[in-house]
Amino acid sequence: MDRSKEGLMVDTLGVAVVGFGWMGRVHSQAYARVPHHYPKLGLRPELVTVADDVPGRAEEAAARFGFATAVRDWREVVADPRVRAVSITAPNFLHREIGVAMAEAGKHIWIEKPVGLTVADARAVAEAVAKSGVQGTVGFNYRNAPAVESARRLIADGGIGTVTHVRVRLFSDYAAHPEGALTWRYERERGGSGVLGDLASHGVDLARYLLGDIASLTADTAVFVPERARPTGATAGHSRASGGELGPVENEDYVSCLLRFASGARGVLEACRVSVGEQNNYGFEVHGTKGAVFWDFRRMNELGVSRGDRYQDQPVSTVYMGPGEGEYEAFQPGSANAMGYDDLKVIEAYRFLSSIAEGTPHGATLADAVQSAAALDAMTRSAESGAWVDVHRGG
Ligand SMILES: NC(=O)c1ccc[n+]([C@@H]2O[C@H](COP(=O)([O-])OP(=O)(O)OC[C@H]3O[C@@H](n4cnc5c(N)ncnc54)[C@H](O)[C@@H]3O)[C@@H](O)[C@H]2O)c1
Repeated sequence: MDRSKEGLMVDTLGVAVVGFGWMGRVHSQAYARVPHHYPKLGLRPELVTVADDVPGRAEEAAARFGFATAVRDWREVVADPRVRAVSITAPNFLHREIGVAMAEAGKHIWIEKPVGLTVADARAVAEAVAKSGVQGTVGFNYRNAPAVESARRLIADGGIGTVTHVRVRLFSDYAAHPEGALTWRYERERGGSGVLGDLASHGVDLARYLLGDIASLTADTAVFVPERARPTGATAGHSRASGGELGPVENEDYVSCLLRFASGARGVLEACRVSVGEQNNYGFEVHGTKGAVFWDFRRMNELGVSRGDRYQDQPVSTVYMGPGEGEYEAFQPGSANAMGYDDLKVIEAYRFLSSIAEGTPHGATLADAVQSAAALDAMTRSAESGAWVDVHRGG
């Protein structure tokens, strides 16, 4: 315990990051920034150790970001008594093993979506977290955007009447290049269900966050780039490879899905990782009996709102987020100053640390990951059978 300049009691919390690719870096930066944006949080993260199995990667991360130690084997983190909380930012196939081991060792976890390869994996991590009584936060960052929180409140308050239907889209080109290397993402055993885990998982979380539980769905999937070149060296993010031996893409490039919500509302969810001309075109349109609300991640501080009693020819206003909307004021002093993607991760880190400080969850939890994974599982089974699948019983 130490006393900050404002006289607040601040406890330090040793944290570790396992897997230092894109998300490892973003989580590390988020921990460093939390005290800047949330000086009143009584818990200050200390970067204790970083693990990555690529030789030299953890050492470089430690040198750049200030971790006290660097290791190659994540099992050393399990055994490290300095570590009380762990970011699990390794590839999907490691989520279950690492997540369960960390939770069983009594460490709080901030784990990236989709939490494993299957709903059974997500459940295993959720159960380990519940049994150990630690906190578990999941990287469904889009729900942290102030505009998304504002949309949720508008909907819950009846601002657009009774919700009738939603369209959720997640289009990206990160796998569109034919020379995109055959990394873990494209293998079923290590990457799981492709764009379903990568993007549709976020879409399901957004849909549930705004409209509540999904009762049933029917889906169609496709692979549009069936082969890719194997990388010759270590990869991070979306590396390129050409001329090498070709291997099969084992998981989905595309999914489209019809949704029925428990409320009776209907929905359409579409996600694609090979959409040429689309860069992070993520968003939603929610329609109700009296209005509508529109959000686009690329202009994430704006919300399109149509409300009133005109029904027909009702105008749409652009509302800029500002202080009072979600966590906006922790970042900017006045409306229409743009926040960015990394800020969503700072909010997520803050919610994770607040969960630990208060012993009660804030933000997306493992229960949300299980629900998302159950929907992805239902999509896979529906794409195989062509039938409507019940999400809850199907999980
Ligand atoms: N929330 C989001 O918006 C978002 C965005 C991208 C990725 N993700 C998720 O984050 C996770 C990581 O994705 P990424 O894009 O950072 O991937 P990445 O490939 O850039 O990084 C993964 C890192 O894990 C390391 N790693 C692999 N095996 C390891 C092991 N046994 N021990 C320790 N480290 C190991 C790799 O060397 C690499 O540095 C995935 O689960 C992905 O779904 C979430």
